[in-house]
Amino acid sequence: MPFHFSSTCLLPVLWSSLHDHFPDTFCPQCLRRSATETLFCHFYRPKERLAPRPGPRLTFPSVEETLKPFMLSMKKLREISSRFTKEMDNGLDKKKHQKAAVKMLPTFVRAKPDGSERGDFLALDLGGTNFRVLHIRVEDKKILKVDSQICAIPQEIMQGTGHELFDHLAKCLGEFLESQKLKEQKLPLGFTFSFPCEQTEIDKSILIRWTKGFSCSGVEGKDVVQLLKDAIHKRGDYDISSVVMVNDTVATMMSCNQQEHEDPDCEIGMIIGTGTNACYMEDMKNVKRCEETEGQMCINTEWGGFGDKSPLSDPGALDDILTDFDKEVDETSINPGVHIFEKMISGMYLGEIVRLVLVELTNNNLLFEGKVTVRLDTKHTFETKHMSFIEGARVDQEVIDTIQDLLKVRCSEDDARVVSLVCDTISSRSAHLCAAALAAIANRIRLNKAKDNLKTAVGVDGTVYKKHPNFRHKLEDAVAFLAPECDLKFYISEDGSGKGAAMVTAVAQRQPHSRLMNGNGEEDR
Ligand code: GLC
Repeated sequence: MPFHFSSTCLLPVLWSSLHDHFPDTFCPQCLRRSATETLFCHFYRPKERLAPRPGPRLTFPSVEETLKPFMLSMKKLREISSRFTKEMDNGLDKKKHQKAAVKMLPTFVRAKPDGSERGDFLALDLGGTNFRVLHIRVEDKKILKVDSQICAIPQEIMQGTGHELFDHLAKCLGEFLESQKLKEQKLPLGFTFSFPCEQTEIDKSILIRWTKGFSCSGVEGKDVVQLLKDAIHKRGDYDISSVVMVNDTVATMMSCNQQEHEDPDCEIGMIIGTGTNACYMEDMKNVKRCEETEGQMCINTEWGGFGDKSPLSDPGALDDILTDFDKEVDETSINPGVHIFEKMISGMYLGEIVRLVLVELTNNNLLFEGKVTVRLDTKHTFETKHMSFIEGARVDQEVIDTIQDLLKVRCSEDDARVVSLVCDTISSRSAHLCAAALAAIANRIRLNKAKDNLKTAVGVDGTVYKKHPNFRHKLEDAVAFLAPECDLKFYISEDGSGKGAAMVTAVAQRQPHSRLMNGNGEEDR
């Protein structure tokens, strides 16, 4: 790992030894609770990390009290990593799968690109507030984006009927084909649909439930590939040849395999953006719900569901670390009780957790002269992008101006430091929780290969990972501690969702297709 010794301060060392005797104390300099976390923070910094902005260094005992439940020790993170391993086993198991919180969904993606793939493809990418249509060309081991178009998905469509949604997608695709003069061609299509789906074949995909603010009626329990085909056929002005469905994690992993870097094998795909999730290559013999035992298949973990209550996990696996703020975010979301892990980690929720903490601190007279303004009290006024800005700011004045402008409060220098501290604490927890789950996946791959040490690559996408100033370092440092036998290289994917979908479609054309078995060991139809 590219670590180097970066601090001459002995405080953390002294504190580390003290910590053995008083395990619940905080490092006075950085407010980390565990000795290991403090060492991360003070000693081990990847070379490329940004120099930290001076502060927050003041001690605010009452603020610390509120933030304490967000600070997870390495011991706790190890425990969480083991719980995640157990949940992965449940999800893969033929009998337990139905009741598992972490769904471990077979994706029917069994092979990585071998370089022989070629042709023109369409790719659709639906997973956030925008929908993208792409024309992709695969040739000479390269994936080229010929052109693309973005269509917004208005709130009323996100929460309208399924028919309205799929008609909207078919309309956007039609307009794109028209602009590209492709309407007369019948191209194969890769559909990146970034929601939990039970795939029974590569082109049959049943939506289990909506996440990330979508709630279109009449889609859960239905085959989304069929809904798309129906919407296209209803129009009758163009057609497509075949449809292959992929999750965004899978597309990201596949496109990473085609990037020009020194690691040929990318066995993990991870998204930390509006939502969060990961996939990885699993040995077929462990995918008990499929009939084949040879080779590998990519598994979409749907790790966002970790911590959800289920008949196999009641209480939920994360109940002991859920704060009152997490509970409020969950209860006021459009899907209470589900995707608990995602709600502690991803961009759709982090800003709101911060806002709730700021309201609590203000109510307790610890911020903004104790005055809760209407803006501060309004849901979603503080977004994850504001955390990124505040944590990346070089001078306090930038933070003060942003907070005043955004929340219409009077913000002092101390207030700005407290807000920075709150943001840092919440984003650190998010990064560390991701690291705990990722460490479990990496160790699983290592054990499957019966190796003492694993070297592999992770393809990553998502605004939190890409745009937050130090999220990735916090995550990567923590994985190195939690899975020391695994050397993971992280590759940021560019246009991975679209390019990867095209690549999966190309690979599928040279692959025999597998099917899922039902609980009786028969093929599911
Ligand atoms: C949500 C979806 C999942 C997707 C992730 C990232 O968790 O359920 O399928 O991969 O968001 O977009």
